[in-house]
Amino acid sequence: MENIKNIILIGFMGVGKGSVARAVVKNSQFISIDTDDLIESMENKKIKDIFKEEGEKYFREVEKNLSLWLEQNVSGTLISTGGGFYKVENLKKIGTIVLLDSPFDAIIKRIKKHPNAKNKLKKRPLLSDLKKAKELYHERRPQYLALADVVVDVTNKSELECAKELLKKVNKNV
Ligand code: S3P
Repeated sequence: MENIKNIILIGFMGVGKGSVARAVVKNSQFISIDTDDLIESMENKKIKDIFKEEGEKYFREVEKNLSLWLEQNVSGTLISTGGGFYKVENLKKIGTIVLLDSPFDAIIKRIKKHPNAKNKLKKRPLLSDLKKAKELYHERRPQYLALADVVVDVTNKSELECAKELLKKVNKNV
């Protein structure tokens, strides 16, 4: 059987990975899965409760185990990831890496204009302190860029525009 490559969406918290993934699914043959959703269902707990009760280190272990499972078992799928998932060792082996990129301030603006903004912030423990989150953004961005096969700048673009750009760039890349 032909092993069709996965697309792995990476990028900072709140950049719009979930929304862009849904737009890609609507406009292509892909189906999508989300590492945070898989972890919440495996652990039967919300991410924020895993952080609170088990700690971040435990969460990263779960991400690592999930990454090994994805590499072995998943193909032809759009995999949306949590903002720190990119640190797993085998990311390149899972598929084509697509970075959704945007400046920190634009990301925060995007979250704050959402009708459910409070919840969006509350469910992300690493966004509770915006000063620290900004530092984390600047620490991670060069690492995201170094890993990415494809970069889509999502700033001031609709989800549909981002999805179309992503599909075009990924098709050129494979
Ligand atoms: C994290 C991002 C979150 C979630 C967890 C940790 C991170 O996912 O995995 O709170 O380290 O950036 P989103 O990027 O979907 O917010």
